[in-house]
Amino acid sequence: MSKHIFVLTGAGVSAESGLGTFRDKSGDGIWSTFDASKLATPQAFARDPTTVLAFYDARRRNLLNAKPNPAHFALARLEQGLPARGGRLTLVTQNIDDLHERAGSKRVLHMHGELLKARCQICGATTIWPRDLNIDDACPECGHSGVLRPDVVWFGELPLHLDAIYTALSNADLFVAIGTSGAVHPAAGFVAEAAAYGVPTCEINLDAADNAYCFDEARYGPASETVPAWVEELLRT
Ligand code: OAD
Repeated sequence: MSKHIFVLTGAGVSAESGLGTFRDKSGDGIWSTFDASKLATPQAFARDPTTVLAFYDARRRNLLNAKPNPAHFALARLEQGLPARGGRLTLVTQNIDDLHERAGSKRVLHMHGELLKARCQICGATTIWPRDLNIDDACPECGHSGVLRPDVVWFGELPLHLDAIYTALSNADLFVAIGTSGAVHPAAGFVAEAAAYGVPTCEINLDAADNAYCFDEARYGPASETVPAWVEELLRT
C-alpha cells in the first residue's frame, strides 16, 4: 500500500452536507449567484465591508447547521488507520468549513483559511469566531475596533501552509484530489507538481475537473459513496 497519501479536498466533499459548490456544471454554484470580485477580494472588503461580512455571516450560519457526511468520516478513518499500516496522511483542504475536523480528522491544513475564525488586521491574532462578525467588533487580543475580518484567503492573497504543502507533495507516494474543479491555483497545480515528482495521481470527483487530463486515474460519483469505497479498499490492503 502507498505509505504517504496526500489528499486535497474541495467544495465537492462538502456538497452533500448542503454547503454548495462554487462552480457547478448545472450553473448554480456560489460564484454563479454572487460576484466573487465584490465579495472575496481585499479590495471588496475595503470598499464595502458590511456587504462582505454579511456574505460570510450567511455562510457561517449555514455551516453551523451543516453536518459532516460519509466522505468526511471516511477521510478521518483513513488518517486513523494508516499509521498501523506504516502509512500517514497529509490532508489539505481548500474548504473553509470545519467538517473534516467535526468528522474526526486531527490534522487538516486549511489553505484558504477558516470561516469560524476572525483575524485582526492590526495585530494579526486569530480568534475562534462562531457568530456573526460586525464591523465594530473589537479584537479580543489588542482591543482595536473595526479591524477584524474573516480568517479566509481572498482572491489575490497568498494561500496558507504552502511550504508544508509543497514539501508533502515532494515526498508523497499517492496524490488524490477529491471534489475540486481544478480551476483555482495554486491548488489546481498540485497534481502536476506531484506528477513531476513521479507520484501516482487520482481524481475522485462528481465529474471531470478542468485539469482531469493531468491525473493517472479517475473515479466519478458522489463523494459520499466514492470516498468511503476508496478508503475501505485502501485500508483492506
Ligand atoms: P468548485 O466549486 O470549483 O468545484 C467543486 C467540484 O466538486 C466540482 O468539480 C464538482 O463536480 C464537484 N462536486 C460537486 N458535488 C460533488 C459531490 N457530491 N461529490 C463529489 N464531487 C462533487 O470548488 P473548489 O474546487 O473547491 O476559493 O473551488 C476552489 C476554490 O474556489 C475555493 O476554495 C474558493 C473558490 O473560489 C476562495 O474563495 C479563495
